[in-house]
Amino acid sequence: MLYRQEYTEKAWATTLPKASKDHVGSSAPMRVVLAGFGVVGRSFFELLRDKTPELASRYGFVPRVVAIVDSTGYAFDEKGLDLARILRAKAKTGKVGPAADRPVKDIISRTEADVLVEATPTNFRSGEPGLSHVRAAFISKKHVVTCNKGPLGIAFQALNELARHNGVQFRYSGAVGGGTPILDFGKTCSTGDDVTKITGILNGTCNFILTRMEQDHLDFRDALGLAQKEGYAEKDPTLDVNGYDSAVKISIIANHLKISRATVAEVKTKGIQAVSSAEVSDALAKGKAVRLVATADNELTVEPVVIPRDDPLCVSGPYNAVKFHCRSSGPKVIVGKGAGGPETASSMLRDLIEIRGSMDGTTKK
Ligand code: HSE
Repeated sequence: MLYRQEYTEKAWATTLPKASKDHVGSSAPMRVVLAGFGVVGRSFFELLRDKTPELASRYGFVPRVVAIVDSTGYAFDEKGLDLARILRAKAKTGKVGPAADRPVKDIISRTEADVLVEATPTNFRSGEPGLSHVRAAFISKKHVVTCNKGPLGIAFQALNELARHNGVQFRYSGAVGGGTPILDFGKTCSTGDDVTKITGILNGTCNFILTRMEQDHLDFRDALGLAQKEGYAEKDPTLDVNGYDSAVKISIIANHLKISRATVAEVKTKGIQAVSSAEVSDALAKGKAVRLVATADNELTVEPVVIPRDDPLCVSGPYNAVKFHCRSSGPKVIVGKGAGGPETASSMLRDLIEIRGSMDGTTKK
């Protein structure tokens, strides 16, 4: 048998939800349900596999993935899944286990676990299925770590309220900036000061495309193909190039810093599909560059803008850069790679460590 304990009614009967704070003490394992096993979900799983001994010795943190579910199947083991074995099975068969016979949100609700790590593909229109997954986790008293931008762009305020109501934490650093801690940096900038405006390069795919058009004279399609190959683009890459991904990220930053309550639908958005090779070359000849810039000011906008090459926002390749304009202390910029499986997985692991630490007071809440 592939798994120590298959998904059975007997298993369900013993997996009723329980308030997580009751059973995560300083040495107790943190039980994790993982939803989504695409580029990021798999990277997160690999990171856990590789770092488990270090997590125990550095943080006293023992994560145990008890369930994993994706669009192809389901695996469960209340004692903790064998991570290496699941990865081998997925590589060999394309599945993590047999097909689940009930909705994923029910699996999330009924599995006894402390945290849901949600990494299903972003849906900018309905937020689903991620939105239902996150809600199910909160209602069953599980913390949530997610990189899924859909639920955040559509229901940021409502989800945070639901988390508070259920006494659990909601962390989403991987939703903006890949592995670059843009949200934490922005929060620090806004503590004791006022962030009056935010400008940023928030989509690694668009920045990669514009850079390759500029430096290698690739046409738009070829550059997009490369971004997809590198794993930067969304499952549906039109969401990158039409500006939606940047729009959802600027709305998440603005909501996170409490400077706007706008949803993704309220962001005025224009993408890079109409940017021509001639415009890119023309900007280059003038010592400038075309970049897709997201702004949070009186309103939230996303549009291609010609910026000076010495502007700190003028980053190359799949990089993100965000400038926080602070009333007292002036502008501050954070730069880092903004997309990629291992990078985003590192943010999710950071969130998990923070949740674990806040439970026993070893890291800030
Ligand atoms: N498709 C996104 C990007 C992934 O290119 O920035 C990271 O959110």
